[in-house]
Amino acid sequence: MRPVIIAANWKMNTTPADAGELAATIAARTEEPGVIRVICPPYVCLAAVRDALAGKNVAVGAQNVHHEQAGAYTGEISASMLAGLATWVIIGHSERRRDEFESDELIGKKLARAIGAGLRPILCVGEVLAEREAGRAVEVVATQLRGALAGKDVEALTAAGFVIAYEPVWAIGTGRTASSADAAAMAEAIRSTLAADLGWGRLAEDVPVLYGGSVTSANIGEFLGEHSIDGGLVGGASLKPDEMAGMVARAAMTAKARAGAEGEPA
Ligand code: 13P
Repeated sequence: MRPVIIAANWKMNTTPADAGELAATIAARTEEPGVIRVICPPYVCLAAVRDALAGKNVAVGAQNVHHEQAGAYTGEISASMLAGLATWVIIGHSERRRDEFESDELIGKKLARAIGAGLRPILCVGEVLAEREAGRAVEVVATQLRGALAGKDVEALTAAGFVIAYEPVWAIGTGRTASSADAAAMAEAIRSTLAADLGWGRLAEDVPVLYGGSVTSANIGEFLGEHSIDGGLVGGASLKPDEMAGMVARAAMTAKARAGAEGEPA
């Protein structure tokens, strides 16, 4: 049974002075059984969020990591520097692909560093609008997956709890979402790519796939109603405790239903 995950990507919002309080409020408002909660604040807020979440069963994630261990990389943060600050990391977010020109190959290197340092990666994939309209969305995402994952140690990735977030670029921050049917079809295509193209076989079935892109408490139910979708990677709405409370409460219903289905005799 795959876990149900709600991951908050705070992007370039909050400061060390206010992030801890926001994280603590969200933690208190989202105490629901069966849902993995993750908060990914900016690097400089990691320590404050970690301290605020101590003992609260909410994981802390970074939003990026460098692909090298150490050296002359001004302004960068390596995986080993995140030790004690974060246990998860977002890799290959479309905003970094767009603004920092991150390639699939570079993203693959970051993934390897992340798992080498014991971090749990969330690999982001997704097409731009022109690619969706041209009917190329699945092909684009499959290319991203092959570029980042070819030759990677499948056992190490799955042991690290590797997660994929499908975030159609045109749905991020726009108020427009993918249809739940399209998102579910993409989640299935992602697992088929892992299983067949990349040779992961049955291990592909265990990889959680999240949907991201204008997720709110009002629409998350549509996505969580799809068996192939295991939660959300949430941007704007994740900064609002009321929204987080609503999304995690809905996720808990899915987690409960899955646990119930699992317990039933075949
Ligand atoms: P929004 O939820 O603000 O659309 O952002 C989605 C996202 O990019 C999460 O990583």
